[in-house]
Amino acid sequence: MAKAIADAEYVKEIEKARRDLRALISNRNCAPLMLRLAWHDAGTYDVKTRTGGPNGSIRNAQELNHAANKGLETAVAFCEEVKAKHPNVSYADLYQLAGVVAVEITGGPTIDFVPGRKDALESPAEGRLPDAKQGASHLREIFYRMGLGDKDIVVLSGGHTLGKAHRDRSNFEGQWTKDPLKFDNSYFVELLKGESKDLLKLPTDKALVEDPIFRNYVELYAKDEDAFFSDYATSHKKLSELGFIFK
Ligand code: HEM
Repeated sequence: MAKAIADAEYVKEIEKARRDLRALISNRNCAPLMLRLAWHDAGTYDVKTRTGGPNGSIRNAQELNHAANKGLETAVAFCEEVKAKHPNVSYADLYQLAGVVAVEITGGPTIDFVPGRKDALESPAEGRLPDAKQGASHLREIFYRMGLGDKDIVVLSGGHTLGKAHRDRSNFEGQWTKDPLKFDNSYFVELLKGESKDLLKLPTDKALVEDPIFRNYVELYAKDEDAFFSDYATSHKKLSELGFIFK
């Protein structure tokens, strides 16, 4: 009984944190950065050793300083403001909630959020996140290690409908879509149009049209935004729950 009451209180606290995140993300226009934070905390998961994953470990200086995480110190600092108001909410939940809110307030699908992630203190060794300079086989290696599949790779890459690359962070520059603060299927529409001088395509983005299995999904999502939203919500939930056993 005592546990049930505590759980109900935690869920209430999560709803308050959700409202604070909505205000913070819209005031600071930082939805893309927050989505990237959620993805980089979760994307270190290794299904075999059950290490990494959405456990808040990205806040550790050691992991935050990994080359792939450049720029995310700002997102971690923003979340710290919400954490100060809701100290009972775990970092792991807070970062994943920030990702869900980021997609929601930019017009994307509603993603089911189940709270209860525990924080971890150890960070995985550097090198678990994808390298943008590589191709399809690398994407498969990285996402399969997380326990995800081909459809997850393509649909989650649609997160690049938001935001941009910054030369000082990744050595790439530019945005993927014309409106980087609107979550829609334009990432896939632009991918099928091929090279453009105004919009960015990373080697890993191009791999999605070059690989025939990936390409089928790109074509589907470019023509059917509802299919993209529905599959995105499913895959994003999976990513946000990797290795996480709900109590
Ligand atoms: C930004 C690589 C998958 C969401 C970036 C940047 C790179 C990159 C190089 C630029 C960072 C910067 O310079 O600021 C990759 C690679 C992926 C991948 C190689 C492999 C498939 C994902 C996924 C999501 C995501 C799965 C979310 C579901 C974002 C967002 C930004 C971003 C929102 C923009 C951040 C901002 O505007 O500050 N990604 N990414 N990416 N990525 Fe990815």
